[in-house]
Amino acid sequence: MDLSFSDEQSMLQQVARRIAQERIGPSAAHHDETGEYPLENIRLLGENGLMGIEVPAEYGGAGMDPVSSVLAIIEVAAADAAHATIMSVNNSLFCNAVLSHGSEAQKQLYVRAIAEGREIGAFALTESQSGSDATAMRCRAVRQEDGSYVINGQKSWITSGPVARYIVLFAVTDPALGARGISAFMVDTGRPGFGRGKTEPKLGVRASATCEIEFRDYVAQADELIGHEGQGFKIAMNLLDSGRIGIAAQAVGIARAAYEASLAYVRERKSFGAPIGSFQMIQAKIADMKCRLDAAQLLTLRAAWTKAQGRRFSTEAAVAKLSASEAAMWIAHQAVQIHGGMGYSKEMPLERYFRDAKITEIYEGTSEIQRMVIARNESGVR
Ligand code: CAA
Repeated sequence: MDLSFSDEQSMLQQVARRIAQERIGPSAAHHDETGEYPLENIRLLGENGLMGIEVPAEYGGAGMDPVSSVLAIIEVAAADAAHATIMSVNNSLFCNAVLSHGSEAQKQLYVRAIAEGREIGAFALTESQSGSDATAMRCRAVRQEDGSYVINGQKSWITSGPVARYIVLFAVTDPALGARGISAFMVDTGRPGFGRGKTEPKLGVRASATCEIEFRDYVAQADELIGHEGQGFKIAMNLLDSGRIGIAAQAVGIARAAYEASLAYVRERKSFGAPIGSFQMIQAKIADMKCRLDAAQLLTLRAAWTKAQGRRFSTEAAVAKLSASEAAMWIAHQAVQIHGGMGYSKEMPLERYFRDAKITEIYEGTSEIQRMVIARNESGVR
């Protein structure tokens, strides 16, 4: 693996860092407090190519590679994890769905507005009774004689659901076929038959609005099927491989922010007449935080690099997501502890990092699911 970055990769990283530090960071506490969706900032990210990083320029994106995506998401997540959630889903799950599995006509129709950040894309797999066991979904798409599909059902935990213009939806087209009876569709939220339910009150990433959506006799035309009928589950799994790299990058960004805040604090905070950074118990925490942060970042870059080689990267993505999310949770926990009372106060961002880190162990496949994927792929035993 090449550990150096090209000029283009470094430039995109700088652009993301500048927007993150100048625009996103200063309003992060406000967005966390109010849960207000950061539409203006998302538009700005889009204008700078960050909502369609791997999307070719001909479809409105930045035409960059998976390593660039990781570098950019880390910068944004270090300023505010909620923005990184919106960005990662838009890039890895929506744009990637159409580019990797859609027809040329679908690419022309749906990618540009989303990659440019003028509209928001979402991904609908989970239902209230089917999270980890995604094949247990009940949302049903019934094919009509003219080739269109009538869709009925409900989906839960849809990131950006309250504002999304288009959604990549997974629904059962043949209940007798299990995983092979699921298909993917492009949904236009402006059409009759689509509705939004309650918005989730969440512990963290509060500005990445999340809601239930429902379908009542929603009609998807035949040319709104993504890929072939019955391919939906594999499409979802393939997209989640990419999505998991995005979440790993988000976790690295949160962890880096918590670590850097801790470094500054142990230099300035005095106790017993000395900076707390001179105490061995604090030094041990700093050293362990640094090791876990670097390991998480390297594993995340390895997953992106493997993807960029055009090789299967399911295991690398799962290893990166598992390691980075657990590192973020642990590092944020240590950072709160190092800051003592100030770590627990809303006057500093540590408690936000702590709350935001938790979701990275849950969405796009829990840590338990990542362990299952890694062990199955490594041993070949199911
Ligand atoms: N890429 C391509 N195909 C894949 C694949 C992958 N990574 N993983 C599995 N498949 C294929 C298999 O080869 C198999 O194909 P065949 O039928 O041809 O053999 C088929 O898919 C079924 O695979 P499994 O038998 O392994 O399926 P399973 O039912 O045992 O489930 C699982 C596997 C790993 C548990 C999977 O269900 C899973 O990942 N669950 C977690 C779901 C998840 O991550 N949800 C996140 C919600 S989305 C979200 O959070 C987005 C957001 O808004 C932030």
